Amino acid sequence: MRSLNDKYLMNNGQQIPCLGFGTYLARNGIEAYNATLEALKTGYRHIDTAAIYKNEESVGKAVKDSKINREEIFVTTKLWNADQGYLSTIDAFKASMKRLNLEYLDLYLIHWPIAKGRDNDWYVNVSETWKAMEELCSKGFIRSIGLSNFNIHHIEHIYRVCEIAPVINQIELHPGYNQKDLVEYCQDKQIIVESWSPLAQSRIINDPYFDTLVEKYSKSAAQICLRWHLQRNLLPLPKSVNPERIAQNADIFDFELGTEDMLYISNYPYAKWSGFDPDKGMF
Ligand code: A2P
Repeated sequence: MRSLNDKYLMNNGQQIPCLGFGTYLARNGIEAYNATLEALKTGYRHIDTAAIYKNEESVGKAVKDSKINREEIFVTTKLWNADQGYLSTIDAFKASMKRLNLEYLDLYLIHWPIAKGRDNDWYVNVSETWKAMEELCSKGFIRSIGLSNFNIHHIEHIYRVCEIAPVINQIELHPGYNQKDLVEYCQDKQIIVESWSPLAQSRIINDPYFDTLVEKYSKSAAQICLRWHLQRNLLPLPKSVNPERIAQNADIFDFELGTEDMLYISNYPYAKWSGFDPDKGMF
Protein backbone atom coordinates (compact mmCIF):
# COMPACT_ATOMS: atom_id res chain seq x y z
CA MET A 1 0.00 0.00 0.00
CA ARG A 2 1.47 3.30 -1.15
CA SER A 3 -1.08 5.93 -0.19
CA LEU A 4 -3.92 6.67 2.18
CA ASN A 5 -6.25 6.42 -0.79
CA ASP A 6 -5.18 2.90 -1.74
CA LYS A 7 -7.88 0.30 -1.41
CA TYR A 8 -8.28 -3.39 -0.77
CA LEU A 9 -10.57 -5.32 -3.10
CA MET A 10 -13.28 -7.20 -1.19
CA ASN A 11 -14.67 -10.58 -2.23
CA ASN A 12 -17.90 -8.92 -3.46
CA GLY A 13 -16.00 -6.78 -6.00
CA GLN A 14 -16.22 -3.59 -3.93
CA GLN A 15 -13.27 -1.65 -2.55
CA ILE A 16 -12.37 -0.50 0.94
CA PRO A 17 -9.75 2.15 1.89
CA CYS A 18 -6.70 0.43 3.38
CA LEU A 19 -6.57 2.49 6.58
CA GLY A 20 -9.61 3.22 8.71
CA PHE A 21 -10.21 5.76 11.43
CA GLY A 22 -11.32 4.12 14.70
CA THR A 23 -13.77 5.89 16.99
CA TYR A 24 -14.07 3.50 19.95
CA LEU A 25 -14.07 5.57 23.16
CA ALA A 26 -14.44 8.84 21.24
CA ARG A 27 -17.28 10.40 23.20
CA ASN A 28 -20.44 11.42 21.41
CA GLY A 29 -20.58 15.18 20.99
CA ILE A 30 -17.69 17.50 20.37
CA GLU A 31 -14.97 14.87 20.88
CA ALA A 32 -16.15 12.31 18.31
CA TYR A 33 -17.35 15.06 15.96
CA ASN A 34 -14.04 16.96 15.98
CA ALA A 35 -11.94 13.80 15.74
CA THR A 36 -13.91 12.48 12.75
CA LEU A 37 -13.86 15.84 11.00
CA GLU A 38 -10.12 16.14 11.64
CA ALA A 39 -9.55 12.65 10.24
CA LEU A 40 -11.51 13.50 7.10
CA LYS A 41 -9.54 16.76 6.69
CA THR A 42 -6.32 14.78 7.07
CA GLY A 43 -7.39 12.52 4.22
CA TYR A 44 -8.86 9.43 5.89
CA ARG A 45 -11.81 8.19 3.85
CA HIS A 46 -12.81 5.24 6.01
CA ILE A 47 -14.55 5.75 9.36
CA ASP A 48 -15.38 2.93 11.76
CA THR A 49 -18.05 3.24 14.44
CA ALA A 50 -20.58 0.96 16.19
CA ALA A 51 -23.96 1.28 17.84
CA ILE A 52 -22.37 0.48 21.22
CA TYR A 53 -19.83 3.32 20.88
CA LYS A 54 -22.81 5.64 21.20
CA ASN A 55 -21.20 8.19 18.91
CA GLU A 56 -22.93 7.45 15.59
CA GLU A 57 -24.69 10.84 15.66
CA SER A 58 -21.46 12.80 15.92
CA VAL A 59 -19.68 10.60 13.38
CA GLY A 60 -22.54 10.98 10.87
CA LYS A 61 -22.70 14.73 11.42
CA ALA A 62 -18.96 15.06 10.77
CA VAL A 63 -19.32 13.03 7.56
CA LYS A 64 -22.09 15.40 6.39
CA ASP A 65 -20.35 18.59 7.54
CA SER A 66 -17.08 17.60 5.86
CA LYS A 67 -18.83 18.39 2.56
CA ILE A 68 -16.90 15.51 1.01
CA ASN A 69 -18.90 13.59 -1.57
CA ARG A 70 -20.64 10.74 0.30
CA GLU A 71 -19.47 8.20 -2.30
CA GLU A 72 -15.85 8.99 -1.38
CA ILE A 73 -16.27 8.07 2.29
CA PHE A 74 -16.52 4.49 3.52
CA VAL A 75 -18.61 4.21 6.70
CA THR A 76 -18.87 1.12 8.89
CA THR A 77 -21.11 0.52 11.86
CA LYS A 78 -21.90 -2.59 13.88
CA LEU A 79 -24.92 -4.38 15.23
CA TRP A 80 -24.86 -4.66 19.01
CA ASN A 81 -25.23 -8.06 20.67
CA ALA A 82 -28.56 -7.37 22.35
CA ASP A 83 -30.06 -6.62 18.92
CA GLN A 84 -29.18 -9.93 17.29
CA GLY A 85 -32.14 -11.76 15.72
CA TYR A 86 -34.07 -11.20 12.50
CA LEU A 87 -36.52 -8.39 13.33
CA SER A 88 -34.32 -6.77 15.95
CA THR A 89 -31.45 -6.53 13.45
CA ILE A 90 -33.68 -4.67 11.00
CA ASP A 91 -34.87 -2.31 13.75
CA ALA A 92 -31.33 -1.75 15.06
CA PHE A 93 -30.05 -1.03 11.57
CA LYS A 94 -32.79 1.55 11.02
CA ALA A 95 -31.94 3.17 14.37
CA SER A 96 -28.24 3.32 13.48
CA MET A 97 -29.02 4.90 10.11
CA LYS A 98 -31.24 7.46 11.80
CA ARG A 99 -28.42 8.39 14.18
CA LEU A 100 -25.85 8.44 11.39
CA ASN A 101 -28.29 10.37 9.20
CA LEU A 102 -26.98 8.63 6.07
CA GLU A 103 -28.89 7.29 3.07
CA TYR A 104 -26.89 4.08 2.80
CA LEU A 105 -24.19 2.27 4.76
CA ASP A 106 -20.96 0.93 3.27
CA LEU A 107 -20.39 -1.90 5.74
CA TYR A 108 -22.47 -3.45 8.54
CA LEU A 109 -20.82 -5.92 10.91
CA ILE A 110 -22.13 -8.33 13.54
CA HIS A 111 -20.18 -6.96 16.50
CA TRP A 112 -19.68 -10.24 18.43
CA PRO A 113 -20.71 -13.80 17.59
CA ILE A 114 -22.23 -14.66 20.96
CA ALA A 115 -24.68 -12.40 22.76
CA LYS A 116 -25.14 -12.64 26.52
CA GLY A 117 -27.27 -15.63 27.49
CA ARG A 118 -27.06 -17.17 24.02
CA ASP A 119 -23.96 -19.33 24.58
CA ASN A 120 -25.86 -22.53 23.80
CA ASP A 121 -27.75 -21.40 20.71
CA TRP A 122 -25.63 -18.54 19.42
CA TYR A 123 -25.67 -20.12 15.96
CA VAL A 124 -29.48 -19.79 15.70
CA ASN A 125 -29.24 -16.17 16.73
CA VAL A 126 -26.40 -15.41 14.34
CA SER A 127 -28.16 -17.19 11.44
CA GLU A 128 -31.25 -15.00 11.85
CA THR A 129 -29.09 -11.91 12.17
CA TRP A 130 -27.16 -12.75 9.02
CA LYS A 131 -30.37 -13.38 7.07
CA ALA A 132 -31.64 -9.90 8.00
CA MET A 133 -28.32 -8.37 7.01
CA GLU A 134 -28.37 -10.18 3.67
CA GLU A 135 -31.83 -8.78 3.00
CA LEU A 136 -30.76 -5.23 3.89
CA CYS A 137 -27.80 -5.71 1.58
CA SER A 138 -29.88 -7.09 -1.31
CA LYS A 139 -32.27 -4.14 -0.99
CA GLY A 140 -29.35 -1.72 -1.32
CA PHE A 141 -29.46 -0.19 2.16
CA ILE A 142 -26.02 -1.69 2.91
CA ARG A 143 -23.27 -2.23 0.34
CA SER A 144 -21.29 -4.92 2.19
CA ILE A 145 -21.79 -7.12 5.23
CA GLY A 146 -19.28 -8.75 7.51
CA LEU A 147 -18.26 -9.96 10.92
CA SER A 148 -16.35 -8.80 13.96
CA ASN A 149 -14.64 -10.87 16.63
CA PHE A 150 -15.57 -14.13 14.91
CA ASN A 151 -13.28 -17.10 15.49
CA ILE A 152 -12.85 -19.80 12.84
CA HIS A 153 -15.69 -22.01 14.07
CA HIS A 154 -18.08 -19.03 14.15
CA ILE A 155 -17.19 -18.15 10.56
CA GLU A 156 -17.63 -21.79 9.49
CA HIS A 157 -21.18 -21.51 10.76
CA ILE A 158 -21.84 -18.42 8.65
CA TYR A 159 -20.62 -20.32 5.60
CA ARG A 160 -23.12 -23.09 6.38
CA VAL A 161 -26.09 -20.71 6.33
CA CYS A 162 -25.16 -17.77 4.14
CA GLU A 163 -26.14 -16.74 0.65
CA ILE A 164 -23.84 -13.71 0.75
CA ALA A 165 -20.32 -14.41 2.04
CA PRO A 166 -18.82 -12.07 4.65
CA VAL A 167 -16.28 -9.60 3.26
CA ILE A 168 -14.57 -8.59 6.51
CA ASN A 169 -13.71 -9.94 9.93
CA GLN A 170 -12.70 -7.18 12.34
CA ILE A 171 -10.70 -8.59 15.24
CA GLU A 172 -8.38 -7.49 18.01
CA LEU A 173 -4.90 -7.64 16.53
CA HIS A 174 -1.59 -5.99 17.36
CA PRO A 175 2.05 -6.93 17.85
CA GLY A 176 2.03 -9.41 20.71
CA TYR A 177 -1.41 -10.67 19.70
CA ASN A 178 -0.95 -11.76 16.09
CA GLN A 179 -3.97 -14.07 15.69
CA LYS A 180 -1.96 -15.96 13.07
CA ASP A 181 -4.28 -18.94 12.48
CA LEU A 182 -7.41 -16.81 12.27
CA VAL A 183 -5.72 -14.36 9.88
CA GLU A 184 -4.55 -17.22 7.65
CA TYR A 185 -8.01 -18.75 7.62
CA CYS A 186 -9.69 -15.44 6.72
CA GLN A 187 -7.17 -14.48 4.07
CA ASP A 188 -7.49 -17.92 2.53
CA LYS A 189 -11.26 -17.29 2.24
CA GLN A 190 -10.72 -13.79 0.82
CA ILE A 191 -12.12 -12.25 3.97
CA ILE A 192 -10.19 -9.04 4.72
CA VAL A 193 -9.01 -8.81 8.32
CA GLU A 194 -9.41 -5.46 10.02
CA SER A 195 -7.35 -4.88 13.17
CA TRP A 196 -9.02 -3.23 16.12
CA SER A 197 -6.70 -1.83 18.77
CA PRO A 198 -3.85 -1.98 16.23
CA LEU A 199 -1.65 -0.20 18.79
CA ALA A 200 -2.89 -2.32 21.71
CA GLN A 201 -4.58 0.86 22.96
CA SER A 202 -1.09 2.40 23.09
CA ARG A 203 0.21 -0.14 25.64
CA ILE A 204 3.05 -1.37 23.42
CA ILE A 205 4.28 1.78 21.73
CA ASN A 206 6.45 3.10 24.53
CA ASP A 207 8.36 -0.17 24.75
CA PRO A 208 12.13 0.17 24.07
CA TYR A 209 11.68 -2.99 21.96
CA PHE A 210 10.88 -0.64 19.06
CA ASP A 211 13.75 1.84 19.65
CA THR A 212 16.11 0.49 16.99
CA LEU A 213 13.32 0.51 14.39
CA VAL A 214 12.27 4.04 15.40
CA GLU A 215 15.82 5.19 14.73
CA LYS A 216 16.28 3.15 11.56
CA TYR A 217 13.09 4.34 9.84
CA SER A 218 12.74 7.77 11.51
CA LYS A 219 9.15 6.87 12.33
CA SER A 220 7.36 6.56 15.67
CA ALA A 221 6.67 3.14 17.19
CA ALA A 222 2.97 3.71 16.43
CA GLN A 223 3.73 4.32 12.74
CA ILE A 224 5.97 1.25 12.61
CA CYS A 225 3.24 -0.91 14.15
CA LEU A 226 0.62 0.41 11.71
CA ARG A 227 2.94 -0.23 8.77
CA TRP A 228 3.43 -3.78 10.06
CA HIS A 229 -0.35 -4.29 9.82
CA LEU A 230 -0.46 -3.02 6.22
CA GLN A 231 2.43 -5.21 5.14
CA ARG A 232 0.56 -8.25 6.51
CA ASN A 233 -2.40 -7.22 4.30
CA LEU A 234 -4.36 -6.25 7.38
CA LEU A 235 -6.54 -3.18 7.60
CA PRO A 236 -5.70 -1.23 10.78
CA LEU A 237 -8.23 1.04 12.49
CA PRO A 238 -6.17 3.31 14.77
CA LYS A 239 -8.20 5.49 17.10
CA SER A 240 -7.14 8.95 18.21
CA VAL A 241 -8.86 12.14 19.23
CA ASN A 242 -5.63 14.13 19.02
CA PRO A 243 -5.01 16.01 15.72
CA GLU A 244 -1.24 15.39 15.74
CA ARG A 245 -1.65 11.68 16.35
CA ILE A 246 -4.49 11.48 13.80
CA ALA A 247 -2.05 12.90 11.22
CA GLN A 248 0.85 10.77 12.42
CA ASN A 249 -1.16 7.57 12.09
CA ALA A 250 -1.93 8.37 8.44
CA ASP A 251 1.69 9.16 7.61
CA ILE A 252 2.75 5.55 7.07
CA PHE A 253 2.97 5.30 3.30
CA ASP A 254 6.47 6.58 2.60
CA PHE A 255 8.48 3.69 4.04
CA GLU A 256 8.65 -0.09 3.81
CA LEU A 257 9.65 -2.45 6.64
CA GLY A 258 12.24 -5.04 5.66
CA THR A 259 11.48 -8.77 6.01
CA GLU A 260 13.62 -9.18 9.12
CA ASP A 261 12.04 -6.17 10.78
CA MET A 262 8.58 -7.53 10.00
CA LEU A 263 9.58 -10.77 11.70
CA TYR A 264 11.05 -8.90 14.66
CA ILE A 265 7.72 -7.09 15.18
CA SER A 266 5.76 -10.33 14.71
CA ASN A 267 7.93 -11.84 17.45
CA TYR A 268 7.06 -9.12 19.94
CA PRO A 269 6.45 -10.94 23.21
CA TYR A 270 2.89 -11.76 24.09
CA ALA A 271 1.17 -8.46 24.84
CA LYS A 272 -1.89 -8.60 27.00
CA TRP A 273 -5.05 -8.61 24.92
CA SER A 274 -8.20 -6.83 25.98
CA GLY A 275 -9.60 -10.01 27.52
CA PHE A 276 -12.87 -9.93 25.62
CA ASP A 277 -13.37 -13.54 24.58
CA PRO A 278 -15.47 -14.15 21.43
CA ASP A 279 -16.41 -17.58 22.77
CA LYS A 280 -18.12 -16.16 25.84
CA GLY A 281 -21.41 -14.32 25.59
CA MET A 282 -20.39 -11.77 28.17
CA PHE A 283 -22.20 -8.64 27.01
P1 A2P B 1 -5.51 9.55 21.81
O1 A2P B 1 -6.92 9.34 21.34
O2 A2P B 1 -5.39 10.51 22.95
O3 A2P B 1 -4.55 9.86 20.68
P2 A2P B 1 -5.84 1.70 19.54
O4 A2P B 1 -6.16 2.31 18.22
O5 A2P B 1 -4.84 0.59 19.48
O6 A2P B 1 -7.07 1.29 20.32
O7 A2P B 1 -5.13 2.82 20.41
C1 A2P B 1 -5.83 3.97 20.81
C2 A2P B 1 -5.11 4.63 21.94
O8 A2P B 1 -3.78 4.97 21.53
C3 A2P B 1 -5.76 5.89 22.38
O9 A2P B 1 -5.58 5.98 23.77
C4 A2P B 1 -4.99 6.98 21.64
O10 A2P B 1 -5.01 8.14 22.42
C5 A2P B 1 -3.61 6.39 21.56
N1 A2P B 1 -2.90 6.74 20.32
C6 A2P B 1 -3.40 6.72 19.07
N2 A2P B 1 -2.44 7.03 18.17
C7 A2P B 1 -1.31 7.22 18.86
C8 A2P B 1 0.03 7.57 18.50
N3 A2P B 1 0.38 7.77 17.23
N4 A2P B 1 0.94 7.70 19.50
C9 A2P B 1 0.60 7.52 20.79
N5 A2P B 1 -0.65 7.19 21.20
C10 A2P B 1 -1.59 7.03 20.25
